[in-house]
Amino acid sequence: MAGYRIVDHSYDVVVVGAGGAGLRATLGMGAAGFKTACITKVFPTRSHTVAAQGGIGAALGNMAEDNWRWHMYDTVKGSDWLGDQDAIEYMCREAIPAVYELEHFGVPFSRTEDGRIYQRPFGGHMRNFGEAPVQRACAAADRTGHAILHTLYQQCLKHRCQFFVEYIALDLIMDGEGVCRGVMAWNLEDGALHRFRAARVVLATGGYGRAYFSCTSAHTCTGDGHGMVARAGLPLQDMEFVQFHPTGIYGSGCLITEGARGEGGYLTNSAGERFMERYAPNAKDLASRDVVSRAMTVEIREGRGTGPHGDHIDLHLEHLGAETLDLRLPGISETARIFAGVDVTREPIQVLPTVHYNMGGIPTNLHGEVLNPAPGDPDRVVPGLMAIGEAACVSVHGANRLGTNSLLDIVVFGRAAALRCRDTMTPGASLPPLPAGAGDAAIERLERVRHADGAKPAADIRLAMQTVMQSDAAVFRTSDSLASGCRKLADVFASLADMRVNDRSMIWNSDLVEALELENLMDCALATVTSAEARKESRGAHAHEDFPDRDDANWMKHSLAWVKAGRVRLDYRPVHTYTLTDEVSYIEPKTRVY
Ligand code: FUM
Repeated sequence: MAGYRIVDHSYDVVVVGAGGAGLRATLGMGAAGFKTACITKVFPTRSHTVAAQGGIGAALGNMAEDNWRWHMYDTVKGSDWLGDQDAIEYMCREAIPAVYELEHFGVPFSRTEDGRIYQRPFGGHMRNFGEAPVQRACAAADRTGHAILHTLYQQCLKHRCQFFVEYIALDLIMDGEGVCRGVMAWNLEDGALHRFRAARVVLATGGYGRAYFSCTSAHTCTGDGHGMVARAGLPLQDMEFVQFHPTGIYGSGCLITEGARGEGGYLTNSAGERFMERYAPNAKDLASRDVVSRAMTVEIREGRGTGPHGDHIDLHLEHLGAETLDLRLPGISETARIFAGVDVTREPIQVLPTVHYNMGGIPTNLHGEVLNPAPGDPDRVVPGLMAIGEAACVSVHGANRLGTNSLLDIVVFGRAAALRCRDTMTPGASLPPLPAGAGDAAIERLERVRHADGAKPAADIRLAMQTVMQSDAAVFRTSDSLASGCRKLADVFASLADMRVNDRSMIWNSDLVEALELENLMDCALATVTSAEARKESRGAHAHEDFPDRDDANWMKHSLAWVKAGRVRLDYRPVHTYTLTDEVSYIEPKTRVY
């Protein structure tokens, strides 16, 4: 296409995204002998995994007896029975070797007195099928994601994987048969477009927290893989399930790890009451995240919030003492000082439930292969396309993810994707030629957005979208809020036609990057609010006040949302109600109490 310099590449595998999932897949592909490229919009060690704090879940049993079957039970219960139990079994079983593998790769985990990996309690982690809290979160102080990300990047370099840094992935290259044949990307440094041809494209592009106004997610979390999949005519799954982390710093949204409560921190209301004892008598402050976030929201709504406006909750760490805070929670002590002006050795941190994680995403099987369900074939695979990490919905988190299962998900399924390629592909096998016009649709999109000459800056449209999501698809939802969310979001989508991009250059053009990201976010927001409006029950993070109970008879099913030109079509596929092996039995649904 005229006016653009296009550089062509051929790889066995192209991974898009260099967070923990992308890097674990990349190094696994490299180790299996595949010529592997990793395209990333930020330098790998700046990917959002770097912000993960409290730990990675694995039943190592270093602090007290533990069992991967208990981990599996907690994960199924945490998911409110929307998780696929075959995938959950795989993840919890593989957790133990995955963490030892990280240790051998060089992750500097904190240590017990006798030199083993230190593990702390976390929300919803229990011993003996829900009996009492257990210490399962393997931690590197409160900078576990940072430690893992840096180690994985070094491993990738060891395997000579090639990185394309500060490249924006624009769109998938799909052929007429529905096979993914590659991906188009834009190099911010010199403005060239790159056409990557590959036997496998692996989307590891993270979540879409930035569809909301207040989130713990980096500004880079804009659902880029979700947008590419939607534009390829493929569905997104379970998008209504958005996790609010109980302890984002009031005002800034910065994460204060659940590990803070794992180390003994606790929440109080304006009466100084440790209110979680009323909502979760057994687990208390370490109940599952959806439970704690709802309890905090109820306290605030009923007039027991703290602060001059009664609009937040206090998190106390003062009693832990400077030595423990320094050893176990140095990162959040610094974050609280910088972003809340709080000395955690003396005063509580003001916190609020804040958007943190997307349970939904690109549907995949437990090998990381993307699914395009069809009538009678709910597990149909899209040839050539994989997705892993927060971008994907395997589904191991179902309606609510347990803390520490995200770091686990990225390493287990990053590795699983590499194993699948090792078992089904031959390094260096010749690739069929690309179809005529491959990549043209991506360039047309780039042209359209680059020359958008309406009246509204992308930032204004993004703010309008974030405001709708924050108010109408929040911790609690109602039929009215969700219907109004759908209406308002349709208007915001329509305003994209009046978007203005001021900078037309192709080099370091952040105006254009943000406009492209906004289109991705908008597809995610539309899928989220439409899927939420349709789901007439409460389950995990989807707390519907007009339908307060879980309804397994009608709603134990995954939502599928096809988003096209601002319209969303919904369908559903069954939850896997079976395990992977007969070493465990299917965990029957029951009422979820903590
Ligand atoms: O609270 C945290 O440290 C977050 C962990 C997670 O989301 O898994």
